Amino acid sequence: MKTENKEQLLSGIKRLKEEKNAIILAHYYQTGDIQDIADFVGDSLALSQKAVVNNADIILFAGVKFMAETAKILAPEKKVLLPDLNAGCSLADSCKAEDFKKFISENSGRTVVTYVNTTAEIKALSDIICTSSNAIQIIESLPKDEKIIFAPDKNLGNYVQNKTGRDMIIWNGTCHVHHEFSLEAILNLKKENPAARIIVHPECELPVRLVADFIGSTSSLLQYTKKDNSTCYIVGTEVGIIHQMQKENPGKIFIPAPPLDSTCGCSECSFMKMITLEKILNCLENEDPEIFIDNEILVKAKMPILRMMDISDKLGL
Ligand code: 13P
Ligand code: SF4
Repeated sequence: MKTENKEQLLSGIKRLKEEKNAIILAHYYQTGDIQDIADFVGDSLALSQKAVVNNADIILFAGVKFMAETAKILAPEKKVLLPDLNAGCSLADSCKAEDFKKFISENSGRTVVTYVNTTAEIKALSDIICTSSNAIQIIESLPKDEKIIFAPDKNLGNYVQNKTGRDMIIWNGTCHVHHEFSLEAILNLKKENPAARIIVHPECELPVRLVADFIGSTSSLLQYTKKDNSTCYIVGTEVGIIHQMQKENPGKIFIPAPPLDSTCGCSECSFMKMITLEKILNCLENEDPEIFIDNEILVKAKMPILRMMDISDKLGL
């Protein structure tokens, strides 16, 4: 994009934000330009918390649909905009409400713990929600003998089950980005950069998690790079997070872990990257596309999210 075009877009977005008392909440997987114009950048948990605590009339969500829906569920009085309604999530898509209802009835008597990467319908069927920042603590908040259904990410579920030793039946879903990382390519990178630390998201497959020096949510990975004294990292999550890592750690080197089909040498979430500066400008201008959720689903979905937020607040997460 030409610099003058980009400057026009950025000044248009800033003007509309002020005129309309709007804020932009952006996930770490957005492009650097979008992260830099956002009022707040964070992981799924922090973005949900921020959706509640702000004085804006309009929240423009620079992220994917389940995140914007979570903001709408938590702040239904606000107008929540998503610049492209097709910005979905392969993990959320892997868990359809009809199939999930059947799964719950086939495993009745279990507490349903659902990852935030799900549709509002799935949240409405759940007892408690978690994010990758608090999944272990949410599971540990349940009585030790409680039998659990965990959905939809099998890798996060497996990671949490190993950490907590709880009785969990896990839905077989994956994220297209984290599922695709190549162990072989990561190990080759490590050979070329022996001092590098391998840091990965818990949505990665077990073999990748086993070679990691650190596993955590996007915000935990970022925190780790700030506290750790290494100077080079192989990063096993969506490449957008590297923008913040570089900003917070000038001088350190961040190498994106490559996917199996390594035509670009990095891993991008195609849904996250549907959001662009142009679409943000148009969306703010027209106040469309907007997120609408059926009221009955919204009310049902809110309870398990509030339960999660209550536990997170008490634990200072
Ligand atoms: P975080 O909550 O760690 O930011 O994860 C969101 C996500 O979509 C991971 O793929
Ligand atoms: Fe969904 Fe994966 Fe994209 Fe995260 S990275 S939004 S889990 S598809």
